[in-house]
Amino acid sequence: MSALAIDNIGLLVTNDPAVGEGLLGEVRDASVVFEDGRVVAVGRAGVEVDGRVDAGGRCVMPGFVDSHTHLVFAGDRAEEFAARMAGKPYEAGGIRVTSEATRAAGAIELERLTWCRRSEGLRAGITHVEIKSGYGLEVESEAKCCQVAAGVTDDVTFLGAHVVPAEFESDPDAYIALVCGAMLDVCAPSCRWIDAFCEVGAFTAEQCRAVLEAGRAAGLGLRLHGNQLGPGEGVRLAVELGAASVDHCTYLTDADVEALAGSHTVATFLPATDFSTRQPYPDARRLIDAGGEVALATNTNPGSSNTTSMAFCIALAVRDMGMTVAEAIRAATLGGARALAKDDIGRLVPGCRADAIVLDATSPTDFAYRPGVPLVRETFVAGRTVWSDLDEAR
Ligand code: NIG
Repeated sequence: MSALAIDNIGLLVTNDPAVGEGLLGEVRDASVVFEDGRVVAVGRAGVEVDGRVDAGGRCVMPGFVDSHTHLVFAGDRAEEFAARMAGKPYEAGGIRVTSEATRAAGAIELERLTWCRRSEGLRAGITHVEIKSGYGLEVESEAKCCQVAAGVTDDVTFLGAHVVPAEFESDPDAYIALVCGAMLDVCAPSCRWIDAFCEVGAFTAEQCRAVLEAGRAAGLGLRLHGNQLGPGEGVRLAVELGAASVDHCTYLTDADVEALAGSHTVATFLPATDFSTRQPYPDARRLIDAGGEVALATNTNPGSSNTTSMAFCIALAVRDMGMTVAEAIRAATLGGARALAKDDIGRLVPGCRADAIVLDATSPTDFAYRPGVPLVRETFVAGRTVWSDLDEAR
């Protein structure tokens, strides 16, 4: 047996309303027990275990599930950001700048950079992460990025259709044929998902449809970037094809809301992107009230959202997207799990993976109430401490 109990939890968020109170399934004065990487008991003190952690009355909750990131890249675009803040609009074409740096980087260097970013996320309480390719944009470089990502997570997404690379500028359909053919063939073995960027300046709905259908035929699940920089066909295409998630959703029409609400496609909001590109924030309230499932993710990337802070996303969602604190916390945990079609993460109930965070706070409200303050004291993945800020560790 290798069991660990976290005792003296002031507030335990289980994310299961059948186990505790309210949307977050809250249990007060609780314990949680992990064994062999899984949660085996909730709400009970005094169980026989090998080790005990005293939470000191603090809050314990499921770790964040970050269902949209682009962690594999080289270089940065700080100058582009500064120019944007001075008034230049964000354009998809900036992706090519990162592509140049990523193509030039070796696999070992990309692996190092990716792990640096992943470590930053662990410190900030992200216990599971999805990673997209999309800065290689040629067969070998996309394969390199997918393989690096596969060393970090089992949720790797092939995003060859991120933008048309310069060498295919005059013939985007030839690039789509490459993505659906040789590139998909070498990338699919490392991936669980396929994605495409449906936007003016990136790909049309018909090009995205071709990519997603090719991915489905290769055994991959579907996701889509849609409605980021203006209204468009992305959301409705994702729903029509039964994608697990459509991401961004900054511009939603009534028809988009209706389509999402009547579907199993999760709307994944990326508010740090809207912050960094000076877009309006999406109206999450409208979609939630219509019955849609929502997630929050960081979209870590060098162009539109250079942050690994889910706390920042939660603060924006509560302040500017009409979400309650409980809805935002749920969207950043269970919502992300739903967007990745995983049912054993995002909750702290028996049978789920023991992915949890101990906060330096008595309630998760502090993520919105104390913006910018580091609040994660200890991060557990599969029942093991992967990061801690405990005094006894010093
Ligand atoms: O999700 N929208 C497309 N892809 C990224 C942006 C990537 C970049 O600008 O480098 C996003 O925002």
